[in-house]
Amino acid sequence: MRVTVTAAGLDAGVDARAPTGARVEQVPRVAGRTARRGARAPSSGARTSGDFAEALIHARRTVLPKRLLAPGPDARQLERILRAASAAPDHDQRTPWRFVLVQVAARTVLAEGFAAALRERDPAANPAQLAQAREKAFRAPTLLLAVARTGLPGDGVPLAERLVSAGCAIQNVLLMATALGFGSALTSGQALQSRALRELFALGSGEQALCFVNIGTASSAPPPRARPAVRSYVRELGSP
Ligand SMILES: Cc1cc2nc3c(=O)[nH]c(=O)nc-3n(C[C@H](O)[C@H](O)[C@H](O)COP(=O)(O)O)c2cc1C
Repeated sequence: MRVTVTAAGLDAGVDARAPTGARVEQVPRVAGRTARRGARAPSSGARTSGDFAEALIHARRTVLPKRLLAPGPDARQLERILRAASAAPDHDQRTPWRFVLVQVAARTVLAEGFAAALRERDPAANPAQLAQAREKAFRAPTLLLAVARTGLPGDGVPLAERLVSAGCAIQNVLLMATALGFGSALTSGQALQSRALRELFALGSGEQALCFVNIGTASSAPPPRARPAVRSYVRELGSP
């Protein structure tokens, strides 16, 4: 079934070429949800699926977690965002990744995990530093930990392929969040490798915490970012 975003751009519609009833999902303005009213999608001229995909991909920007405010995605939106991960390429269908949702009620526990992680690498950390570590647990309304199931020796699918699949799953999540009008950010840091967080998230020996995925309503649009030119990262085989 071929479903194409219509000339209406990013609004709901039914593709004339699609089988009867094939409805294009309603997609709010790309990056159009900001707490500051008036920020608009850069994509209102989208005409085709290619235009839509390009607009969506380039609209995704990191919005710092401190600028991600309520509301976050509701339960149905979060389900759609997480379902996007399942479309990631996945050699041998191992689902070599998973996500852990850190509900608001669990943020205090996460905050203590961050503090414990800091103490682990710096036993002399002072109260201000510990408070700063704790504060990071409370930033975005929706917070997920992305975990790679890196596997154990002999598990078949190599680590690199598992990590590529995890990266694709994470990108799908970010793009779906963007399509629904939310801001998002990945955050990492040394705490992810700590024993404290490994225990808190019950990571197995064949698992690795990759990053947090923060999602919420952007309080402001991020500044423009220059992208590398295609020629800077593409070569033809046989050319210097
Ligand atoms: C695995 C991963 C972890 C990241 N962790 C952080 C982080 O801890 N702090 C941060 O400011 N940005 C983090 N980023 C986001 C990058 O800084 C951001 O993607 C980059 O600046 C490009 O900006 P853009 O996403 O708006 O294109 C992370 C990105 C990736 C892929």
